[in-house]
Amino acid sequence: KKVKLQAPATVANLVCGFDILGMAIHEPYDEMEIRLLETPEIIIRHLDDFGLPEEPSKNVAGVVLLKIQEHLHLKNGFEAIINKKIKPGSGLGSSAASAAGAAVGANALLGNIFSREELVYFAMFGEELASGVKHADNIAPCIFGGITLVKSSHPVDIIPLNAPDLFVTAVHPQVEVKTSDARQILKKNILLKDAIEQWGNIAGLVAGIQKNDVGLIGRSLNDVIVEPIRSILIPKFNEIKEKSLKLGALGGGISGSGPSIFMLSEKEETSQKIEEMMKSVYDEIVIESFVYVSKIN
Ligand code: HSE
Repeated sequence: KKVKLQAPATVANLVCGFDILGMAIHEPYDEMEIRLLETPEIIIRHLDDFGLPEEPSKNVAGVVLLKIQEHLHLKNGFEAIINKKIKPGSGLGSSAASAAGAAVGANALLGNIFSREELVYFAMFGEELASGVKHADNIAPCIFGGITLVKSSHPVDIIPLNAPDLFVTAVHPQVEVKTSDARQILKKNILLKDAIEQWGNIAGLVAGIQKNDVGLIGRSLNDVIVEPIRSILIPKFNEIKEKSLKLGALGGGISGSGPSIFMLSEKEETSQKIEEMMKSVYDEIVIESFVYVSKIN
């Protein structure tokens, strides 16, 4: 028995919703093929050349399959063949795609015995291996699709939100930002006045998404807590953001923990102008970059 699936890239945080909001996008996506084996071993094979470990306990998809096997006391094993298109370390949910894909694929082979929340629970072990923290803001939209709110991750409580018809332009500059480092530099305490502004933005963003109110979405895409600290790690962040807004973007910011930057636009034409601008900004300072123009999935 085997299943083939596509695991989409995801943009976590959506600017103000650190660790709680995320959205799936159409492109890029990973391709995975998962087989149920008669024997108990877990086999991971990568067709891409990102040099990711294939030993199951060190592989993001591998640990998820091991957890499911252990949970069910299965005598069967799994083989996962992964063709990664989402670059690891991009901030576009590469590890979440492998983890979520493994959980969804295994579930299909086992006759869909788990709920989507349970799949999020298993996939979080992959995120823990990748970044040291079991955050679900990439996994949830990867499994549910569209935009999701992680109301709580312990216990897993996911609220699927509306998916407005917007364009997403994401640029991945080739600089390294490790999620673990990008978490380490954050302040452990925040000011009440900043918290008030932030939860106003989160509530405004969720209301804007549910009401399909693009003006409200744009006004709410502000982060006074995480972005001011993390953006220092991303060359030309402020320039990209300012120029995108001038070109008509609704708003945007760091994708996940970076280094990718994403912008939302109402019109395809705007997203294409932003794409050209992003490329030229990084060309000028000789940083290789990849730009994806996509839609909310
Ligand atoms: N919410 C996580 C963070 C996403 O910002 O650290 C990491 O991909």
